[in-house]
Amino acid sequence: MAGMTFADKAVLVTGGATGIGRAACVAFARAGAQVMIGDKDAQAEETVAIIAQSGGEARFVPTDVTDPAAVEALVAACVAQFGRMDAAFNNAGVLPPQRPIHEVPVDEMNLAIDVDFKGVFYAMQSEIRHFLKVGGGAIVNTASVGALIADPNMSVYCAMKHAVSGLTKAAAVEYAQKGIRVNAIAPGFVVTPMTQHWADSADFRAAFFANNVSGRAAVPDEIAGTVLHLCSDAASFINGATIAIDGGQTAH
Ligand SMILES: NC(=O)c1ccc[n+]([C@@H]2O[C@H](COP(=O)([O-])OP(=O)(O)OC[C@H]3O[C@@H](n4cnc5c(N)ncnc54)[C@H](O)[C@@H]3O)[C@@H](O)[C@H]2O)c1
Repeated sequence: MAGMTFADKAVLVTGGATGIGRAACVAFARAGAQVMIGDKDAQAEETVAIIAQSGGEARFVPTDVTDPAAVEALVAACVAQFGRMDAAFNNAGVLPPQRPIHEVPVDEMNLAIDVDFKGVFYAMQSEIRHFLKVGGGAIVNTASVGALIADPNMSVYCAMKHAVSGLTKAAAVEYAQKGIRVNAIAPGFVVTPMTQHWADSADFRAAFFANNVSGRAAVPDEIAGTVLHLCSDAASFINGATIAIDGGQTAH
């Protein structure tokens, strides 16, 4: 079986400044990859430093994924810096405030559409153009359990994550014959800067864990392994899948 080594490979990660993206960047580097990070938050420099401290190689290019030209430049920077791009993890995202549908302001809706859906779409366009030139590659998109089920007061996030899952399937069937695999991950509750307010709320924790068979949230490292697997040759026959990493939440 082909292994999960990324020696002599380069990967691109969006949203690598913190949380799940940072954990994936560090794990990719530990597995031998050179890592190109696109994020709008300069905390991505800390991710680069963490990787450098353990002898790995990463670069950060400030990137707003809602700007297709910026994402195109990010892919170009990866290829210019490392001479290649073998896989991409489209992970940047935002979580809008929780509100019922009739109270969602238009600007909050548009931001989630722009980052959580269009940001993934633009990144995939640029990545696929590159992979078509070099004969293949692997893409992993970050969806959510919100792509599989709905929770109250998360309508736009849930709709956009369903869209990411649908886009993942669409790309998988369009490009399977071109050597490009496209999959998505659907994490459950992971403690990151995005969800720290949930982790800090005793009421939220009690309500969430009462309905969750695992009885706890994940840490970002528990998500990174599946990202690496899907980007590796070990996942050569996984295509178009949205894989739940949710401690059994959606099985219950
Ligand atoms: N934490 C969870 O419980 C959870 C569960 C399911 C899915 N997710 C998804 O995981 C992904 C990562 O989230 P996280 O939990 O690690 O949170 P996070 O806030 O730590 O990470 C999100 C990253 O996206 C970046 N980002 C946001 N808008 C951007 C933009 N316009 N351009 C470039 N970068 C941008 C942020 O700067 C940050 O680095 C998101 O797509 C999120 O929706 C998170």
